[in-house]
Amino acid sequence: MHKSYGVNEIREMFLKFYETKEHLRLPSFSLIPQNDASLLLINSGMAPMKPYFTGEVEPPRHRVCTCQKCIRTGDIENIGKTSRHGTYFEMLGNFSFGDYFKKEAIAWCWEFLTSPEWLGLEADRLYPSVFAGDETTPADEEAFEIWNKDVGIAAERIFRFGKADNFWEHGSGPCGPCSEVYYDRGPEYGCGKPDCTVGCDCDRYIEVWNNVFSQFDNDGQGNYTELKQKNIDVGAGLERLACVSQNVESLFDIDTVMNITRKVSGITGATYGQSHQKDVSLRVITDHIRSATMMICDGVLPSNEGRGYVLRRLLRRAARHGKLLGVDKPFLFEVCAVVIQENASAYPDLKEKEPYITRVIRMEEESFAKTIDSGMRIFTEMLDGHKEKGEKTFSGADAFKLYDTYGFPIDLTA
Ligand code: GLY
Repeated sequence: MHKSYGVNEIREMFLKFYETKEHLRLPSFSLIPQNDASLLLINSGMAPMKPYFTGEVEPPRHRVCTCQKCIRTGDIENIGKTSRHGTYFEMLGNFSFGDYFKKEAIAWCWEFLTSPEWLGLEADRLYPSVFAGDETTPADEEAFEIWNKDVGIAAERIFRFGKADNFWEHGSGPCGPCSEVYYDRGPEYGCGKPDCTVGCDCDRYIEVWNNVFSQFDNDGQGNYTELKQKNIDVGAGLERLACVSQNVESLFDIDTVMNITRKVSGITGATYGQSHQKDVSLRVITDHIRSATMMICDGVLPSNEGRGYVLRRLLRRAARHGKLLGVDKPFLFEVCAVVIQENASAYPDLKEKEPYITRVIRMEEESFAKTIDSGMRIFTEMLDGHKEKGEKTFSGADAFKLYDTYGFPIDLTA
């Protein structure tokens, strides 16, 4: 069994490893994209470095490594329902801008993942995959050969997947075929189906690493042009690696994240694992306060549009789940202290801005509480009206009016 490392240890270990391979360590870029109108928030390690990939801007070095703060909010209403996703995550990445390519990227990925000096995962639990090819792009035989001949992985352990899995792109910009690495967490995480194997969407085989061979530029309309240079863009989810290293079920169980949930439990009295409903609320609060703290630190303020609206939705959703757990006062501003504490070693500006972040969260909670209080009054009047008429159902029209006119969340009505 491999050694277990904390989130902060893995982040540092990864960056150190790539420094030994002559990479320049850069701090995380802000969550607010600079000169990129295609994104509301930074959603991957490569996103802030697009001009280095295209060759438009000369990078500070042609080998760079980062741990990038990322937010993906495509599916906010579903976050929390399962333990699979969060809105906030950190992406470890090593990047080559027209410098090394597949051979080095794959060899170093394997060394970091398996060497006992580094993460030290069991080689026989790891499975690489390569791009299987399609009508426009040939199969990646080069990556296959490197895994097979250089690294020594038996051919039957190397999986071939199509574009949906093994071609990385996020909107417009640099993209390309990729080679992922999966970790087998064992049959106890599996779906039990006879054909369950790498690529199954149950929880047994989890993707821990993505080597993107960034060779094309997508204009955002699906037209690809060959980039002037061949690049490497690696994305390795820090929380996923921690999950595997710590042998825990989900990102909500890893050390730094669980410490945040513990604080929420201390305030709400709800503990993780008590009931599905409570777990959903605990996950929502834990995830959203992580995102909100990081966004405010990077200069986003709650508002009714753009990034500010994303932040407002996250804070209000978290506050609403606090309410569902029986909390009747602002509390998120207290939880953010733990987020800051857990992340202070990697992001020192969090500590400097702690009073400001706390104030912004508290003000938003207070203003939301006023909306809820007046919504409650109107809800009660509506409920009385239904009762007076002998109606047994609270009407959909009233529920909608509460939401649409008074900003009262539909799940609180329910
Ligand atoms: N840019 C590669 C990834 O995020 O997976």
